[in-house]
This record gives sequence, structure tokens and C-alpha cells, in this order.
Amino acid sequence: MSKLIKILLWVVGGVAVLMALVATYNTLAPLPVHEVRLPENVTIPYGDSLALAEGARIVSMSCTLCHRNQDGNLAGRPLPEKDFGDVYIANLTNHPEAGLGKYTDEELVHIIRTGIRPNGSQLVPIMPQFFRMSDEDLYRVIAYLRSDAPMVQPVEKYWPDNKLNFIGKALTRWVFKPAPMPTGPVAPPPSDDLVAQGEYLANAVYSCYQCHSASFETNNDHEPSLSQGYYGGGNPVGGLAGALTISANLTMHPEHGLGAWTVEDFGKAIREARRPDGRMLSPTMPPFTSLTDDEVAAIWAFLQTVPIQDNDARAALAQQ
Ligand code: HEC
Ligand code: HEC
Repeated sequence: MSKLIKILLWVVGGVAVLMALVATYNTLAPLPVHEVRLPENVTIPYGDSLALAEGARIVSMSCTLCHRNQDGNLAGRPLPEKDFGDVYIANLTNHPEAGLGKYTDEELVHIIRTGIRPNGSQLVPIMPQFFRMSDEDLYRVIAYLRSDAPMVQPVEKYWPDNKLNFIGKALTRWVFKPAPMPTGPVAPPPSDDLVAQGEYLANAVYSCYQCHSASFETNNDHEPSLSQGYYGGGNPVGGLAGALTISANLTMHPEHGLGAWTVEDFGKAIREARRPDGRMLSPTMPPFTSLTDDEVAAIWAFLQTVPIQDNDARAALAQQ
């Protein structure tokens, strides 16, 4: 055997041993425990009917997509996709132990912003991190979750512990990092800046970029605009509400995106799931039924500023 081949064999063998060690580590080692720094000055607007109505609107267009079950409440359900292993979408009802009653307001803010529970454990990264949601909006959401609305009446449903598979563990351990807890107040976007408001709604509250960029795996959740194929669509989105469907290109490309649409077309599509050509959108695209006209206009103004992507997502959809 020549010396070169011997060296090569050693290198290949060394890499194989290293990979086996990393794989064993990922399978056996507990997931990391993170630092918890609870926020101060959390003031939930309990009993404020306007705040409750706003909270209800945000919850109904965001959290329900995952947390609502067949009974129409937010007691959670098993996640239909098994890509990460067996994952259970949590019970957000007001039950004192099985639901959110077990957390203080400060702890809830921490979980929803960072994806880290008070004991330092990280949520499975399917749950979005709402670290840029304004304090005002987040406190309204919590006021609603703690209210006596039918959707959050206490349900005594305990879900089993998640059983993450190899991929679920590796992604939680190494890829999807928890968001840092904001150190000061989180202000809403300026009220005279339509584009900033649209960006806030699309990226920080309703996570449109998550489904509408190239792939969940290449999304950058801490800096959405750095996601691969940002708003160019083509992401195969599965299971939560409908069948696996390829997401649409929302950039202003004249043929492959929304370049030829009007703001009215856009409003009908996102609120009523109806495209300009009359086709109904798949339920995989959650309808954002109660967005106001101003909010639709803001998201539309923001999409005008997103760099155009020439991705023919509809062709991929037609071939599906
Ligand atoms: C894309 C799906 C998805 C959306 C949207 C979503 N969640 Fe979750 N959420 C999850 C999953 C999955 C878990 C369970 C994670 C785990 O067990 O590690 C979870 C867990 C939680 C928990 C932890 C509960 C506990 O007992 O530990 C809270 C609180 C929560 N979600 C609140 C919210 C709120 C508030 C919203 C809307 C603003 C929301 N979620 C939107 C999927 C989602
Ligand atoms: C859970 C994933 C998901 C989220 C979140 C989501 N979408 Fe979609 N959206 C889709 C999918 C999948 C389609 C394609 C549906 C079809 O073609 O039937 C789609 C289609 C659309 C369309 C139709 C475009 C066309 O050319 O037909 C528009 C407009 C749209 N989404 C806007 C939005 C906006 C704005 C948001 C956030 C407020 C959003 N979507 C959030 C999955 C999502």
C-alpha cells in the first residue's frame, strides 16, 4: 500500500469516527438549558375591552393556526407532521396546571418572545418566536389568553412529553437558536410609516415570510430578510390546515409574483382566500379574515419594497 493511500484511509477513518461520536452525542446528550431573564414592568390590560378585542384578533389569525383543535378551543393537538418526531402543540387554555395557569405573566412573555420555558428548556422550534411583537400587542394577546372567552376556557388536557427524533434534536440543538430576550421596551412601528407597519405585520406578527420564502430550513428567523428566496415562495408547506401545498411568490415579479395585482386583489386573496382568477386558495394558506383595510394596505406597501424574485412557484404548484 502506498503511503498516500494509508494517509487517506486514516483521514477517512478519522472522519467516520468523528461523525459517529457527534451522532451518538446528539442522540444521548440532553438538550441545552438556556438562561432565563424574566422581563420587568409587564402590565397586562386585564378587563380592557378594546385591548381584549385586539388580542382576540391577533390570536385568531396567528396562534389558532397551530393551537386550535377539532373542538374549536386552544387546548392543542398532536402536530400532524412527524419530521421532528412526536411533537405536541401546547394547551393554551386557562387550566391552572394543564394550561397557561401554571405560568406568571412575566414567564409567559418570556416563553412567547424567546421560545424558552422558565426552567430553561427550549420549545421545539416549530413555535415561532415573537421577539419583535410590540409590548402592546403581546400584552393584548396575553390578556385575551387569560380571559373567559370560549376558546380559552380551562380544558384539562395534558399532552405527553415530545419525543424528538434525530433531526428534531439536531435542529433544536444546533440550528434554530432561541431569540434573545429584548432588554428594553419593544415599541410598535411608527404610525406614519406604512412600509414599517407592513413589515411588522408580515414578519413580526403573522410570520408570512416563514411559509413564503424558499424553505423553513433556510429561513433566518432572527433577521427574516436574510432568508433564502425571501418572499419568493416555492416552500412546500404541509399539514397544519390543509394538504401539502407549494407557497406562492409574493414579490412584485410581473408574471411569477403579484406584480400585476391591485391592492384589492391582494385583500381578497389574504382575507377571503380568493385569487383574481377566481380560484380558491388552499386552506394551507390561513385566511387572515379580520385584517383591517389599513393593515392590508400596509402589508401591500411593504411587499412593494421587497427585492423581486423570479421564482415560478405556481408552475411547481401545477405539477404537484
Ligand atoms: C406554527 C405553529 C405555532 C404557532 C403559529 C404558534 N404556536 Fe405556540 N406552540 C407551538 C408548538 C408546536 C408548541 C409546543 C412546543 C414544545 O412542546 O416544545 C407551542 C408552545 C407554546 C407555548 C408553551 C406552552 C407550555 O405549556 O409550555 C406557548 C405559551 C405558546 N405556544 C403560545 C403561542 C402564542 C401566544 C401564539 C400566537 C401569538 C402561538 N403560540 C403560535 C406551535 C405554534
Ligand atoms: C402556514 C403557511 C402560510 C402562511 C403563514 C402564510 N401563507 Fe400565504 N400562502 C401559503 C400557501 C401554501 C399558498 C398557496 C396556496 C394556493 O396556491 O392554493 C399561499 C398563497 C398566498 C397568496 C396568493 C398568491 C397567489 O399568487 O396565488 C397570497 C397573496 C398570500 N399567500 C399572502 C400571504 C400573506 C400576506 C401572509 C401573512 C399575512 C401569508 N400569506 C401567510 C402559505 C402561507
